Amino acid sequence: MIPESFIQELLARVDIVDVIERFVPLKKGGANYQACCPFHSEKTPSFTVSPSKQFYHCFGCGAHGSALGFLMQYSGLGFIEAVEDLAHSVGMQVPRVSERVQTDRVKKAPLTELMLRAARFYKEQLKASPKAVDYLKGRGLTGEVAAKFGLGYAPDEWQGLEQVFPDYNDQALVECGLVIVNEQGRRYDRFRDRVMFPILDQRGNVIGFGGRVIGQGEPKYLNSPETPLFEKGRELYGLPQARRAIHDADTVIVVEGYMDVVGLAQLGVENVVASLGTATTGHNAQRLLRQANRVVFCFDRDAAGDRAARRAMENSLEFLEDGKRIDILQMPGNQDPDEYIREHGKAAFDDLVNTGTTPLSEFLVREVRKPAGESLDKQFNLATAEGRAQLIREARPLLQRIAAPILRTQVTKVVAGLAELSQAEVEAQCGLKPLARGRPSAPPQRRSIQVSQLKTLLRAVLRRPERAARLPLEQIDAESSEGAALHAIANAIEHGELAGGNMGLVIEHFRGSPHEALMGALVTAATVEQVDEGEEETVFEDTLARMRQAELGAMIDALNARARSGHLTAEEQAELARLLAAKAKPQPR
Ligand code: UTP
Ligand code: MN
Repeated sequence: MIPESFIQELLARVDIVDVIERFVPLKKGGANYQACCPFHSEKTPSFTVSPSKQFYHCFGCGAHGSALGFLMQYSGLGFIEAVEDLAHSVGMQVPRVSERVQTDRVKKAPLTELMLRAARFYKEQLKASPKAVDYLKGRGLTGEVAAKFGLGYAPDEWQGLEQVFPDYNDQALVECGLVIVNEQGRRYDRFRDRVMFPILDQRGNVIGFGGRVIGQGEPKYLNSPETPLFEKGRELYGLPQARRAIHDADTVIVVEGYMDVVGLAQLGVENVVASLGTATTGHNAQRLLRQANRVVFCFDRDAAGDRAARRAMENSLEFLEDGKRIDILQMPGNQDPDEYIREHGKAAFDDLVNTGTTPLSEFLVREVRKPAGESLDKQFNLATAEGRAQLIREARPLLQRIAAPILRTQVTKVVAGLAELSQAEVEAQCGLKPLARGRPSAPPQRRSIQVSQLKTLLRAVLRRPERAARLPLEQIDAESSEGAALHAIANAIEHGELAGGNMGLVIEHFRGSPHEALMGALVTAATVEQVDEGEEETVFEDTLARMRQAELGAMIDALNARARSGHLTAEEQAELARLLAAKAKPQPR
């Protein structure tokens, strides 16, 4: 947890113009600076940075925020990471991060230092190894691209790293996966006689390596093990190098291999990252969708590729947003992207990306026509009721995961058509609860809280997040977007995440979440309206009181109804009396 005072001090210390200029060239125009917006594509600049307000705003797409928000939005950093990055840039020390994170950081710092030293060593060694250089040249790579990705060579020696680590017995070398200790206690380099691909995190720290055997050999690729620095499911190979191109294209292509990233970049397709051999995790999908409106997952057309495509689909459904697009590209022939572009050229690959992809929704519909994991020739017989029932069974868990309301409706319609059911029937059979937007049917036997009341609460909570502790959460239905946002804030407060926070902090905390749009709209309104503090507190309390009254009323109604249809137990009678008394009493506070 980072104290709010620190955030304020930090934002006072940095200049948003410097921060943004690191990534986007700005032109001075009057009191402000202008640029073409990095968050949407445009020809005339509508992205404005105000040094006096320390705020950026795009008149085209509405992106806006502080220096912190820019870093998060532009680099896809989390809140804490962005704070650290910003603090680092002005030489400030982030105070008392939570204990665990703190010790983590202390531990991590020397490890990244070791990894960097190793990466430099491998890079040097590449220059000295004609064999490795020839191998890379043979694969069509120039020195320029090799340098861009920091490629290197691990020499064919058992203790090659001793040259740069005089204390070869340092346990940290084992901890970061560079050195292996065998059962006899003998230490040796993990990577020997391999072409080295350093894996960088968002900030450009070396956190792992992939090493390819030169020519034939097993294993083809050897990777760093999971270490305190390197969590495989979370990392993407090539992200820092691809960032600029991803923004320019507003598209990110996700491939399977190191060589695909490097090979595509060599031929001018630079908005590419690799998922590091492991399944594409939801975390990755989420992170990528923050950086571009379109994500294209690229898979080889073989059994493994098909499985991976299916997994990527499943894991991305909950991160879909209306207005964003995830596509699947199944490579034609038996070629991976690197082989394909080398044979057919950049234009042909661009063509595949532009016109040869399958939208995630269509891929989903194709998948549910057959049992999971089976090939397309095992399709259900939709001419039979049984076949159509199987289709619904396959579709059910997938439909439930789609988070984008409009898209889910669309896909549900398609599934309904195939299953010869109405949309409502599919929704019922698949247990699809209405998603936010347009008020879902109110819970029965309860005078439901109106959306306008929830909005009032949310506005008040946004201004003073600690108010969330006073919310009657059991009464607030999380299925409306306002309700969900209130639950989310209360939850964050409960976990100590927004302590002492103000509106800006809440907004930043939820940036990139499903709550962002709603909160943003309310905040804008709240800023324009200039609400009076005391008045807002009164309104907040009034709304809570009305909700308490409504709840009491509903409970009384329920007991009264039972009293009419049978009779109440003594306890229930006492309860009713208590409720009536409570309702009659003027509300405290
Ligand atoms: P591929 O076997 O498809 O290799 O593995 P590739 O990317 O086409 O490599 P080249 O072109 O033969 O050099 C795809 C990815 O799977 C992981 C690596 O991340 C690799 O880039 N992999 C593969 C391993 O981790 N270990 C292996 O032994 C093989
Ligand atoms: Mn390949």
